[in-house]
Amino acid sequence: MPFYHKLGEIPPKRHTIFKKPNGDFYYEQLFGTIGFDGMSTNSYHEQRPTQVKAIKKQYSIVPKVAKANNIQSYRFRGFQVKPEADYLQSRKAILTNSDCNIILAAPKNKKQDYFYKNTDADEMIFIHKGTGKLRTMYGNLDFKYGDYLIIPRGMIYKIDFDTEDNRLFIVESYHPIYTPKRYRNWFGQLLEHSPFCERDIRRPEELETYNETGDFTINVKKQGEIIEMVYASHPFDVIGYDGYNYPYAFSIHDFEPITGRVHQPPPVHQTFETAAFVVCSFVPRLYDYHPEAIPAPYNHSNIDSDEVLYYVDGDFMSRNDIEAGHISLHPAGIPHGPHPGAMERSIGKKDTQELAVMVDTFKPLQVTEEALKIADEDYFKSWLE
Ligand SMILES: [Fe+2]
Repeated sequence: MPFYHKLGEIPPKRHTIFKKPNGDFYYEQLFGTIGFDGMSTNSYHEQRPTQVKAIKKQYSIVPKVAKANNIQSYRFRGFQVKPEADYLQSRKAILTNSDCNIILAAPKNKKQDYFYKNTDADEMIFIHKGTGKLRTMYGNLDFKYGDYLIIPRGMIYKIDFDTEDNRLFIVESYHPIYTPKRYRNWFGQLLEHSPFCERDIRRPEELETYNETGDFTINVKKQGEIIEMVYASHPFDVIGYDGYNYPYAFSIHDFEPITGRVHQPPPVHQTFETAAFVVCSFVPRLYDYHPEAIPAPYNHSNIDSDEVLYYVDGDFMSRNDIEAGHISLHPAGIPHGPHPGAMERSIGKKDTQELAVMVDTFKPLQVTEEALKIADEDYFKSWLE
């Protein structure tokens, strides 16, 4: 996150002696991205963070692609993804390309006995159902319905859920996830026309420090595989850190919609950006107020981006027969638009209660075997009268 954060105890100057009360050293780690050019954090550990004891099993979780070249519009019934006990096993990639994986998960276990680290990708976890606590090496974040959790690559974490009833919409991004550049000034500060500001971004405020040795399993994701690694010390042994690279939370309910006299284009809903896709939040808002305005979107061709819309809650005015947890995929290359009757229905409406998350990818998405299990194969005909 492009603003400075400090938690716990750190020495006054970086790369200098920092000792425990008993005279032993704390161990410094620079946790950086994009070589030494990206955002980084300096953290101080009770134990050396490099102590690998064993490398155990290694297995692929590369999504199984069912349709590599797709031009068919789909609807996927996201809540039909079956809940699974284990957090990692519950994650089902439904759409994939060389930049990202779009994943649905319904994990049941309230706690995991392992830690997890994704070295491939930043993770955006949208909480559709469930509450709990994201625990990371750089502190904890409580989460609830509507939260986006942004977890930079390499961050060791585990998630504690309060109940077994959880629904997550996850994007793994091989490019860093940022807030939109056009909303930031050259110092990184969010500007007055940004739909959210620093006050809306929740940073870790609770740092748990465990000075423990033993066997600690971290499931590490690298190059599409999970590698079970055993470390000799507890991965949450940070006594303090400062810098710009840390997990954070942002609630979709804190996104302030931008409205106008006539239909506003999707970029006004933009929440995050990467080099390869954008994320938009569609939130309850007043409709367009020109007396002749048509609030429903016009037909449009995202001729070079695939559009994934995850329906969260409320009414979905441009669609017929869409429920919470559904996902529509409108692929690049062909136009799409409101369903028959939706444009007419929208005229004269004053507001909408819709809540949805959109991911627009610049490269085409491949449809996985998991996606076809929950797919409506006839959705592409749904614009016929
Ligand atoms: Fe669209």
